[in-house]
Amino acid sequence: MRKHYLPVAGVMLVALALLLSAGSGVAAEAVAQKAPEQKTEVKQIDEEKKLQGECVGCHINVTPGIVKQHLGSPHANTTNQEDEVLCSSCHGEKHTAMDDWKKAEMPTAEVCGECHKKQHRQHAEGKHNLGWLVMKSQIAWHGQPGAIAGEGYRGCSGCHKIGKKGLLGVTDGNTGEVKYDGGKEEAKYRYGNVQCDACHTRHSFKVSEARDPRACSNCHMGFDHPQWEMYSSAKHGVIWAIEGHEEGARAPTCQNCHIMEGDHAVKTPWGFLGLRIPTKENVLALIKAAPSLEPQLTKLAAALPSGNYIDVDDDPTWTLDRALILQASGVLDENLQPTERFIEIVVQAQAARGPDEFNELRQKMKDNCNKCHSKGFVDLHMKASDEILKAADHEFAKAIKAVQGLYKDGILKKPEGWKYAPDLLQYYEAKTKIEQELYMIFLEYRQRTFQGAFHASNDYMHWYGWAPLKSAVATILEEEKKLRAEHKAKQAAQAHSEEVAAKR
Ligand code: HEC
Ligand code: HEC
Ligand code: HEC
Ligand code: HEC
Ligand code: HEC
Ligand code: HEC
Ligand code: HEC
Ligand code: HEC
Repeated sequence: MRKHYLPVAGVMLVALALLLSAGSGVAAEAVAQKAPEQKTEVKQIDEEKKLQGECVGCHINVTPGIVKQHLGSPHANTTNQEDEVLCSSCHGEKHTAMDDWKKAEMPTAEVCGECHKKQHRQHAEGKHNLGWLVMKSQIAWHGQPGAIAGEGYRGCSGCHKIGKKGLLGVTDGNTGEVKYDGGKEEAKYRYGNVQCDACHTRHSFKVSEARDPRACSNCHMGFDHPQWEMYSSAKHGVIWAIEGHEEGARAPTCQNCHIMEGDHAVKTPWGFLGLRIPTKENVLALIKAAPSLEPQLTKLAAALPSGNYIDVDDDPTWTLDRALILQASGVLDENLQPTERFIEIVVQAQAARGPDEFNELRQKMKDNCNKCHSKGFVDLHMKASDEILKAADHEFAKAIKAVQGLYKDGILKKPEGWKYAPDLLQYYEAKTKIEQELYMIFLEYRQRTFQGAFHASNDYMHWYGWAPLKSAVATILEEEKKLRAEHKAKQAAQAHSEEVAAKR
């Protein structure tokens, strides 16, 4: 699949209008429009039972594990017997013999949603539902071989299949609201369309499994989002491991903080990237600090939401630091104006929030901490973590400026096919050592610094985050000097040889 960019100039207005009205329900509505027709089950119960007997009777030999799990699941043991969920409730009735198994249907989240409306609606409103869309928004994803990127589910797609397929963003040529393709993309994939089984795995579909923090750990781990490692090495996780997590347990699980009261609409204030949309006030305040940028900033401010952030608001330095990060990600262009990536990543995939949503989510989270901790304790923790992110951004910005300077002065050349340079979203495709280092700050060190802070994992925050971040910045500044010196020497040598040639 290739990216096809539309000319974006005229599109900004649409994007910004969307931004201002940015409801979290865009994707949800898109999905709801296509709820599959209710199955018109007019069959006799006897006939259904007979068919179920056939599925089970044959599959006890073909796939005995699945039959055993199903028979032990809540679906085969419903409170009311007449509600029993059959193999055919999820797989249809077309396949009934040894050789026609390709006719078996594979369920999507909508199929689960026919019976579990509330969870389906909430899930569709949360960030998980956007996981596939946001993966495809990444330029680095498009260059990877098929089994890493898509079917096969062995790379990005293995974790990101928790998102709904078929949501259309800029990458698919859609520059407006998120639209749903009506099932075309899902039809390309036989497996992996069901989303819900990320936490309630088939065929036991247990709620107890989904309540266990280990259920999140196959995805929320590792390089750029080690929440499992951070949680299990912080006091909350340590106590959970020692004392267990029965209802009313002393230490919170991931679910207690992120799926509060069973609400499947997961979303955090800062999000994965630790970025938020600057407010009009933040940007106007920056003009005083950087008067030379007045025209660009005035234009940008006009498009932004008004307000302020609770706990720690942006000061001009932070606004500028973050603007540089957005610029190095190709989300703002060289004139600090939003690009097509802004539409897809920020507006459509909701990777960053404005003040109203941020404050609301933050307050909800704090009220939740408040069940066990005092307000003062929680405020201190949140403020300290915001300040840590701010400090990390300031270090990161120094490194970005150094690399941007190398491009400006012609010492680094924009690689062929790249739209932006430096481009953090090229990830490990970065062509030079100095940009590889910048990528490590972006996706590993800065992430661990702020994520570790919020999850109260001091080792992740400091030794896996802040410490390597500082040394990477030092390496980059050193490397910059070296590249400049080499460039100067090369130019001098060239000038000299030209001089010699001219004299001949
Ligand atoms: C006579 C035997 C038989 C009966 C009856 C039967 N199946 Fe199957 N089914 C199979 C075989 C064989 C396969 C292929 C297994 C394999 O590839 O290992 C299969 C595969 C499947 C698959 C997986 C398809 C895939 O693409 O991976 C599903 C789902 C399925 N059956 C559901 C059902 C349901 C639901 C029923 C009852 C409506 C049913 N089966 C009845 C024999 C049967
Ligand atoms: C035909 C209706 C139907 C479909 C389709 C269906 N379920 Fe269920 N589900 C039920 C019923 C009924 C129960 C049992 C409720 C009870 O305890 O009586 C249940 C129970 C559950 C539970 C356990 C709830 C608990 O309190 O223990 C989970 C989790 C679950 N389903 C997930 C799913 C997922 C995921 C899918 C899609 C892959 C799905 N269901 C598809 C009807 C359905
Ligand atoms: C509540 C819904 C539900 C019920 C009931 C259900 N399945 Fe499934 N089944 C699924 C889901 C979800 C998948 C995974 C689909 C995917 O990967 O996209 C699946 C996949 C399968 C597969 C292929 C994948 C594999 O792991 O081999 C087989 C075979 C299968 N089911 C057989 C059965 C049989 C037989 C029954 C009844 C005994 C049954 N299923 C009942 C939801 C269900
Ligand atoms: C990110 C993990 C995750 C995903 C994805 C997920 N669930 Fe859940 N689900 C949970 C957790 C955690 C609970 C238990 C909540 C609680 O403590 O009440 C739960 C509970 C449930 C219950 C039982 C509710 C009750 O009150 O007994 C059902 C039914 C259910 N989920 C269906 C679904 C369906 C349908 C989907 C897909 C649309 C889905 N879930 C996706 C984590 C998940
Ligand atoms: C005590 C509550 C708590 C627990 C337990 C917890 N988190 Fe968090 N989580 C937070 C807070 C606070 C934030 C940052 C909120 C913000 O952005 O303001 C956060 C942020 C996140 C984020 C967004 C990116 C980031 O790391 O900042 C993800 C994803 C996440 N948590 C997943 C998890 C997972 C998975 C677990 C379990 C392994 C978990 N969390 C355990 C409180 C918790
Ligand atoms: C199959 C992999 C997978 C599993 C399992 C999983 N997640 Fe996620 N989660 C993701 C992906 C991918 C995203 C990013 C989606 C996006 O932001 O568009 C995400 C995003 C999140 C976010 C939103 C962070 C933000 O940007 O605000 C939270 C919170 C979260 N997950 C919590 C959990 C919890 C808690 C569990 C376990 C109950 C869990 N997840 C299980 C893959 C998973
Ligand atoms: C091990 C599972 C896993 C793999 C592999 C993975 N991701 Fe993720 N990804 C996640 C989780 C979990 C999150 C959410 C983490 C958080 O919020 O802290 C996420 C978040 C993201 C986000 C940010 C979403 C947002 O809205 O903030 C993007 C973009 C992304 N991933 C792209 C990719 C791409 C592209 C690849 C492959 C090059 C990839 N991911 C590989 C699990 C994975
Ligand atoms: C279910 C109760 C519960 C909830 C909810 C909860 N905590 Fe805790 N927390 C504990 C317990 C118990 C401890 C360990 C005892 C202690 O240090 O007070 C703890 C410890 C801590 C620590 C100290 C860790 C250390 O290494 O010293 C911090 C910081 C913290 N919690 C922050 C939070 C924040 C922020 C939230 C909300 C996002 C939160 N907690 C939600 C129960 C909870």
